[in-house]
Amino acid sequence: MREVIAAIQQATSPDFPIVVRLSADELVPGGLTVPDTAAIARALEDTGVAAVDVSSSNYASFDQGYLIPPMAQPDGVVLPYAKAIKEATSLPVMGVGKIRTPELAARTLAAGGVDFIALGRTLLADPDWPR
Ligand SMILES: Cc1cc2nc3c(=O)[nH]c(=O)nc-3n(C[C@H](O)[C@H](O)[C@H](O)COP(=O)(O)O)c2cc1C
Repeated sequence: MREVIAAIQQATSPDFPIVVRLSADELVPGGLTVPDTAAIARALEDTGVAAVDVSSSNYASFDQGYLIPPMAQPDGVVLPYAKAIKEATSLPVMGVGKIRTPELAARTLAAGGVDFIALGRTLLADPDWPR
């Protein structure tokens, strides 16, 4: 990851923000867990990246409903993982996952759980949502 970050930095300008997506808990036997990912986030602190963007799960644990949370999952279901990583690193942290209302986004930011909100399907449904 350090080599990839360095290559991006060489190919861009110093003010180009590089954000690293990390899966906090892969939710598979032997996969990354929150303590592993917290250590990775801390190891990124001296690389110059702008922020980490915290998801959870992977394609082997897709059916647990965290990778792309389905209807049965509550809004903001992945945010506790982002909060856990934020508590472990000085880097700004981005949260994602079924953030469908501005109220949830504002409440999460105000509570300090994350520094940024990331939107996936919300923006596919309504590109004007951030307004
Ligand atoms: C069509 C689609 C493709 C996605 N591709 C990726 C991907 O390549 N890498 C990744 O980390 N997440 C990917 N995601 C997950 C999103 O980045 C996001 O974490 C997830 O959709 C939850 O956020 P949302 O509820 O705002 O959509 C994808 C999601 C969708 C719907």
